Amino acid sequence: MLTTTGSALVDRLMELMDSTFAVCTGLPTESLPEKQVDLLQQAKEDIPTVVYPNEPPMVKLSAKQLKQFSSKRKASILWKSLQAIPHALYRAVFHKSPVPLTDDQLVQCIDQTSMHTLCKLVRRPKHYCIDLKRFYDLPTFTGFCCMGTIANFTYDRKTSAKLTLDNIVLYQSAGQNFIVKSIDSAWDFAKLMLMHNLNHEITLGKHALTHFPTNSLIVLTAQWLPESHAVYQFLQPHFRYTLGINNLVLNSPASILSDHNNLASPFDIPFDTVHKFNIQPAYKEYRFLARPLYNSKFTYGRMMQRYWNSFRPLVQELVTTYLPRGQQAKLKQAQHLRRWADRVGRIIRGFPSGKELTGSTDLLIDTLTTIAVTVSIDHSAQHYTYSQIPSTAKPWRIRSRMPLNANDPIHLSSMNWYVDAFQEEAANRVFFNVDPASELMHVKYYNENKQMLQLDYLGFRNRLQECAEKFPYVPLEKIAPSIDF
Ligand SMILES: [Fe+2]
Repeated sequence: MLTTTGSALVDRLMELMDSTFAVCTGLPTESLPEKQVDLLQQAKEDIPTVVYPNEPPMVKLSAKQLKQFSSKRKASILWKSLQAIPHALYRAVFHKSPVPLTDDQLVQCIDQTSMHTLCKLVRRPKHYCIDLKRFYDLPTFTGFCCMGTIANFTYDRKTSAKLTLDNIVLYQSAGQNFIVKSIDSAWDFAKLMLMHNLNHEITLGKHALTHFPTNSLIVLTAQWLPESHAVYQFLQPHFRYTLGINNLVLNSPASILSDHNNLASPFDIPFDTVHKFNIQPAYKEYRFLARPLYNSKFTYGRMMQRYWNSFRPLVQELVTTYLPRGQQAKLKQAQHLRRWADRVGRIIRGFPSGKELTGSTDLLIDTLTTIAVTVSIDHSAQHYTYSQIPSTAKPWRIRSRMPLNANDPIHLSSMNWYVDAFQEEAANRVFFNVDPASELMHVKYYNENKQMLQLDYLGFRNRLQECAEKFPYVPLEKIAPSIDF
């Protein structure tokens, strides 16, 4: 009798434990079904060390924390949706047809958003191209295919616009393509098709590289650095809410990535497949650089470099003030730092080794600056600048047939359905637009006793303001300290 009661009690306790904690680590294996992990291991693909079958559970967010985050999020999403619905209805009823950007607007949009990272130099000194190959699967999102476009540009730094769009190559069928120029009847279609393909590539491909490796970094920081470590204290405001949002996006049945029938989901289902974020390729493609190579030829690259330079003095101050000076404490902190960096390096390619990081204060400052700038300014700027492109100019679905040649005119009203117009506008306002829970310019750092670290916050804020004045493409209040939306 006692044994039965005892085991019932244990069962009940286990049940309670299960419901109290939700594991949401963001480590790559977490989002893959077991079979897929097995297959990856068997195939021994050239993937960095991401498969850890014998890892202990990573980070556990308490149900209370998750609930707090979700209820906050629900309230903000509900409010945003209520505001977005009238706009989305207006767009569907009165502006169903896509409207291509002018040529100047299109190059501006590439220059001032993260889309510029797809622009590759193909022929020196000034021929650039964005090559979105036909029918290749997006690495991070299986089942999504690109219809194929190549955009050719000329770059001339002497002109104020710098970039000129020369032509767009459209794929009409496998192996058959043709060049469309601005004088051709299919020009508007070609520009919309380019934006359509860029949507998928940027939001579901490149943007994923900002999200996923960060999740691992958060988990490993929680595991391998003590709360008393200055590096831990610096990173906390930049990691806040990220696992919560990660959990919702990847696992919530209401996520627009999981539920394609959701009224606000612009994502299409081209084939009868189950779409799922495949996180492994994001890790494979991602490479950490302690000093990122922002491309100074493009406005977005120059803006990021300027923000990076403005952020670094704050990190320098923190590292020089709060890393301990006493021999014993110094050794202990270095030991933790070394272990942490080595663990991160097993998952994120290019991350400095523990030896390198403890051997160079400059490298440590660069590394921390890059982590913080990526999750705050770069992530927010990627979202905000993309959301500023009108939804009419970047169709998520194209319903009409492809043109047969450069002079085959296609009526733009046949490209979208009413529901497409509604969903594109709704998603642009609710999901792509920025909704920070707090602002980077008000960031503060705390020690393990919840005392604020004494740093020149005012100087930091002034430097951020100078950047925002010089590059007025992202309002400062739209920059969150962490990936929290
Ligand atoms: Fe994001």
